[in-house]
Amino acid sequence: MTRPSVDASRAGAGPARSDGRVRPAGTGPADGERRGLEEAERVELTVDAVAPGGHCVARVDGQVVFVRHALPGERVVAEVTEVHRGFVRADAVTVLDAAPQRVAPPCPYAKPGLCGGCDLQHVAPAAQLDWKAAVVREQLTRLAGLTDAEIDRLGVRVAALPGGPLGWRSRVRYAVDAAGRAGLLKHRSHEVVPVDRCLIAHPAIQALPVLGRPWPAAEAVEAVASTGGDVTITALPPDGSVAVPPIDGPVTVREVAAGREWTLPASGFWQVHPAAADTLVGAVLDLLDPQPGEPAWDLYGGAGLFAAAVAARVGPAARVTVVESAGEGVAAARDNLRDLPGVEVVAARVETALARRRITGPVDLVVLDPPRSGAGARVVRDVVAAGPRAVAYVACDPAAFARDVRTFAEAGWELAELRGFDLFPMTRHVELVGLLQPAR
Ligand SMILES: C[S@@+](CC[C@H](N)C(=O)[O-])C[C@H]1O[C@@H](n2cnc3c(N)ncnc32)[C@H](O)[C@@H]1O
Repeated sequence: MTRPSVDASRAGAGPARSDGRVRPAGTGPADGERRGLEEAERVELTVDAVAPGGHCVARVDGQVVFVRHALPGERVVAEVTEVHRGFVRADAVTVLDAAPQRVAPPCPYAKPGLCGGCDLQHVAPAAQLDWKAAVVREQLTRLAGLTDAEIDRLGVRVAALPGGPLGWRSRVRYAVDAAGRAGLLKHRSHEVVPVDRCLIAHPAIQALPVLGRPWPAAEAVEAVASTGGDVTITALPPDGSVAVPPIDGPVTVREVAAGREWTLPASGFWQVHPAAADTLVGAVLDLLDPQPGEPAWDLYGGAGLFAAAVAARVGPAARVTVVESAGEGVAAARDNLRDLPGVEVVAARVETALARRRITGPVDLVVLDPPRSGAGARVVRDVVAAGPRAVAYVACDPAAFARDVRTFAEAGWELAELRGFDLFPMTRHVELVGLLQPAR
């Protein structure tokens, strides 16, 4: 592990502030007046705890500062990038006193002012897991209302997936700028940063002729490298409302997971990390422990990944119902699960399917894998009302998950187990699988 003493260098940084000075924190404003931080101002500060969003919190003369490219405990010079009511955002541009977990970012674009895709390249891989676990703890406290003792009992941990922190991203969407150059977006911006390589992209994607050539008619370029060995490039036109076929590679790609081979449109939803699908299936089966004959629902089912795995356990006599709203997902589920007689695929929004009782009958097991916004209170209440013995909740946003855990608790259920997985190394994102059950 390298431990740089003084460099989070800001490529292309402009002047620090109009008078060129760095405001020393805790001593009041340098000019003697009490005023808030201003955009582009540089300030020396001590970094506090991690927060959701890929940054840490700091305070300067009472003002809250969300600092990127920093680690808790560090003393840094931060440059203010945005000023809001109640808080400012800033980038650590010089590290005066580095934390032991700091490493040199492997990617030259993972710097203030450049690519915004990775938040944690400056953090040692093992410390990234601790960072994400701390965020999950904080969200469970603040949004789910769990006590420290309850969270301790859950033993919140985030596990690494096989393959290391680079070369994992099997689906990459490159943005294209007005000059037709492909790249990645700046943090919290639509500005395209042209890159010659993305180190977290799968090696088969890094080898594609996408970067460094012009894309005059595209708004974005999507690259896929599937676990079945297929590689595609799709140029997305400015009007993204129409699905377009790949310009290179097959129209459908093969994925291998849950002991099966899947065929999906290149543009359809599939887990992004090559080891993710099997990791999540393993956790869901382990937590639900499906028994022969138990009917199940796979809500927000996509191509039916969890339905296939659960169906193999409960057997052909038990009904497993997939609910999915995207046409592509519904078609992929019907196609891929055709050999499983107990599986039924319902094309509907989950909210509607539950409220209008389009899925009925007794249910013992539910898999909930909603998009980032979470399932929401109405869906949670309808799931509880259906009376399953257990719910496996697969979540890509700890905040939405925590809010839904609170709704479960209000309905007399508890979060009995929780597993965290680092499906998105180098980024702030984390995946959770929680087991919810009626409280004992
Ligand atoms: C996180 S993905 C999970 C897919 C699948 N469980 C998997 O792991 O491959 C969420 C899925 O929910 C679908 N979806 C989003 N909102 C929905 C809704 N309101 N009702 C039903 N499906 C929805 C999306 O199309 C997507 O396939």
